[in-house]
Amino acid sequence: MDKSKLEALIEARGKDFFSITSGEAPSIFDKGWWIGKLMDWCMRNEIFKVQLFRFVDVLPYLTTAESLSRHIEEYFAKQDLDIPAALKWGAKGAGLGGKITGKILGRTIRTNIESMAQQFIIGDNTKEALKVLTKLRKDNFAFTVDILGEATVSKAEAEQYQQSYLELLVALQKEEKRWKSLGDTESNLDWGHTPKLYISIKPSSLYSQTTPADFDNSINAICERFIPILRKSKKIGAFVRIDMEQCEYKDITLEVFRRLRSSPEFRDYPGLGIVLQSYLRDTDQDLEDLLGWAKDEGLPFSIRLVKGAYWDFETVTAKQHGWKMPVYTIKAETDAAFERQARKILENHDICHLACGSHNIRSISAVLEMAKALKVPESRYEFQVLYGMAEPVRKALVKVAKRVRLYCPYGELLPGMAYLVRRLLENTANESFLRQSFVENIDTEKLLEDPAKVLETLPEKTRATTVSEFRPSKDQDPGPFTNEPFVDFTRPDARSAFPEAIDQVRARLGRTYPLVIGGKEIKTEDTLASINPARPDEIVGIICQAGKQEIDSAIAAAKEAFLVWRNTSPQTRAQYLFRAADIGRKRIYNLAAWQVLEVGKQWDQAYADVGEAIDFFEYYGREMIRLGSE
Ligand code: FAD
Ligand code: 2OP
Repeated sequence: MDKSKLEALIEARGKDFFSITSGEAPSIFDKGWWIGKLMDWCMRNEIFKVQLFRFVDVLPYLTTAESLSRHIEEYFAKQDLDIPAALKWGAKGAGLGGKITGKILGRTIRTNIESMAQQFIIGDNTKEALKVLTKLRKDNFAFTVDILGEATVSKAEAEQYQQSYLELLVALQKEEKRWKSLGDTESNLDWGHTPKLYISIKPSSLYSQTTPADFDNSINAICERFIPILRKSKKIGAFVRIDMEQCEYKDITLEVFRRLRSSPEFRDYPGLGIVLQSYLRDTDQDLEDLLGWAKDEGLPFSIRLVKGAYWDFETVTAKQHGWKMPVYTIKAETDAAFERQARKILENHDICHLACGSHNIRSISAVLEMAKALKVPESRYEFQVLYGMAEPVRKALVKVAKRVRLYCPYGELLPGMAYLVRRLLENTANESFLRQSFVENIDTEKLLEDPAKVLETLPEKTRATTVSEFRPSKDQDPGPFTNEPFVDFTRPDARSAFPEAIDQVRARLGRTYPLVIGGKEIKTEDTLASINPARPDEIVGIICQAGKQEIDSAIAAAKEAFLVWRNTSPQTRAQYLFRAADIGRKRIYNLAAWQVLEVGKQWDQAYADVGEAIDFFEYYGREMIRLGSE
């Protein structure tokens, strides 16, 4: 279809949507409630917002009145934040650190934050969750249930999650008979084609040691815990969606999906789906790879396409570690990627089902119109929204698109905090579609603009680069100091470089190392063996030791060198350090591998140690130049 024609249809569809939602705002922004007031204040005061979200994050751990008031003092009172009286934790007359007793204040704060969490979760336990699911289904919404929890910290906790999912499946199966199928259908399937029972699961909840540095073990361990859940799901005909978390886990998660979906036991079971996040720069390629893989294997599958819930985390982490930014940094880039990728999936609907996960009326309208233009059967796409978010959008969606599924988390407050903070960030972000539509009342035309067009009108994009890309020529001005980036094990080249470097180093173990004095190698009788502490039978190297005679010659050599060195300019001295830094950078895996074998360091720490040495060269080289110019 002609692009401008399609664009006109998307805009018309969007306007229609807005007219259906008009007058109603998502409940999180309702200023009649304490939460709405709090959100309003967050959107007006960035420092308060940051402090509040940090406080929400620690709240479950504040188990005594004393620790609670200390944290309130620390997070809010000390920040000199001008908080309106009505907001002071909803406690009448409760000044921060005021007269109200710690106990009462503590209870009030806890209750209020809990009620904020309840906005987004359907209960503390399975029984409560089932009640809400039944109600939602009466309102024509399908569901996907998620048990709150991620990044478990122990085997016991991970096993508990696995168990909870198994129990949830049993409970859902019992309830299923009571639920009428959604849509106009005689079948036992919702809308005639999709299971009623549907769960979402975060892989990091199933294995506490998940890390890209230990790629294969992480995948194996997650799969091992996943299989009983998938086996049970297959038995009762439930659909399982693997959520996508931080980009650190992305490649592991994709591999877990591929392995499970193509395993002999589950090849004939299409009820396993995956999530892709459009904000990741890698996603076009990942999508291409997944589609190619599915076609080669003959395995139909489903993708929930979302923009991504960890944007703040990813940007902060990348900056902190000096990594290339994995996410787009311009909102329109993400929006445009979402539409581009949704189109790609719709074009491949024979092999890939699309679950559109967005609350953005422009993005939803684009998917609706593209699907229509491409004549995609209704059974090959659906819409998904988060429980507690964007109620007017979901009501309009169910009227317009019919096939709407709510993502419904339940569970305890503690494991739910990260989820709550993500939702609060998502709602209150400057560029949030919901905030712009329902709080700032930005022009509908602007909200419905084609993001690809928006990008064309932007001045040169601010592209993030790695720290090393910034590294200037050292000949004259070395430029500002920046830390050497940490190793990024999400990169396959980093993952393979370590074992390769260790193999190379291992091939050179056990050699004898002479002293070097005045540029000459000197072997001595007195030697010291350096042993691998992790394998005491492995001699890393044999080092010649200096006696009195060698020490005297070393001092004499240093005295001689001093005559030249004292006349060496600071610039030239600095160049030696910069050169050493460059050599260190080129050989970083090799040097780190020596450390791994000689002192038993973990890979990431050994890499960071060499990085630190490079930092010293870079930093003191600059200091030399600075001091020399004074
Ligand atoms: P919009 O306001 O249009 O988009 C907001 C999003 O844009 C942000 O979340 C971020 O991704 C992106 N963004 C914001 N600022 C910038 C910027 N400056 N530059 C570039 N991009 C920016 N998320 C996951 O990560 N994994 C999941 O498994 C997952 N499952 C979900 C399931 C469902 C059913 C739904 C509805 C959402 C799920 N999400 C998941 C959350 C989802 O990522 C967010 O809800 C979504 O990003 C919000 O996008 P939107 O289109 O609703 O809103
Ligand atoms: C999250 O946990 C919904 O998976 C998404 O933020």
